[in-house]
Amino acid sequence: MFKRVLITSGPTREPLDPIRFLGNRSSGLTGMNLARVFLKKYAAEVVFVSGPVCRYPSGVTLVKVETALEMRDAFFKYFSGADVIIMAAAVGDFRPAGSSQQKIKKAGFPLVMKLERNPDILKEAGERRTPQQLLVGFAAETENAVKNGKRKFLRKNLDLLVINEISEENPAFGAVRNRVTLLTADRVIPLPRRSKSELAAAIAIQVANLSIMRKNRGVPRE
Ligand code: CTP
Repeated sequence: MFKRVLITSGPTREPLDPIRFLGNRSSGLTGMNLARVFLKKYAAEVVFVSGPVCRYPSGVTLVKVETALEMRDAFFKYFSGADVIIMAAAVGDFRPAGSSQQKIKKAGFPLVMKLERNPDILKEAGERRTPQQLLVGFAAETENAVKNGKRKFLRKNLDLLVINEISEENPAFGAVRNRVTLLTADRVIPLPRRSKSELAAAIAIQVANLSIMRKNRGVPRE
């Protein structure tokens, strides 16, 4: 049983002006199913940091955010007290450099917009984590999924990577069913196409297994 599981979920929104934003197609369904399964079977508390979506899970400590910077702040507020951290959010990699205070008018077009990089929250989590924490990331890959995934796994110092193999037949974002491959330090586990609640259950089982293996191996205390 875990004390606190920290899950990020959903899209981020980066404002262009008071009305418009840069966003993405994440529905937050995978994150919501993960929250449900951990709360039901594995965790005393689930902290759920979520971008704007239609439905939020009940029973969690819910923190609603909009931008990647807000998500980062909320995430690190709960980070050190979490024994499992799952970064399922589709964080926008870029934000407009200086959003307009007023609505951007048609008359001002054509418009050239500068973008700046958002922080990579998962990478920072990989740098700040302790050996006792379990860190789970997601990847969206359109080619060489396992090869790219292995690089991402190492670069972000993860225990488990959930690779979405994005194609026309498997859009993943916004879809009800999804096909993923799970990657751990010593295993590549391709899963058949499943509903997102079945996927969440499979991911939770892997996390629980990793935790048991770690306890058996006796990970040193810092
Ligand atoms: N992520 C994050 N902060 C970002 C971007 C992504 O924390 N600014 C996290 C997501 O929550 C997810 C993983 O990183 O767990 C997704 O990474 P992905 O977008 O697939 O890859 P990138 O690291 O952005 O690399 P690339 O774009 O080169 O594939």
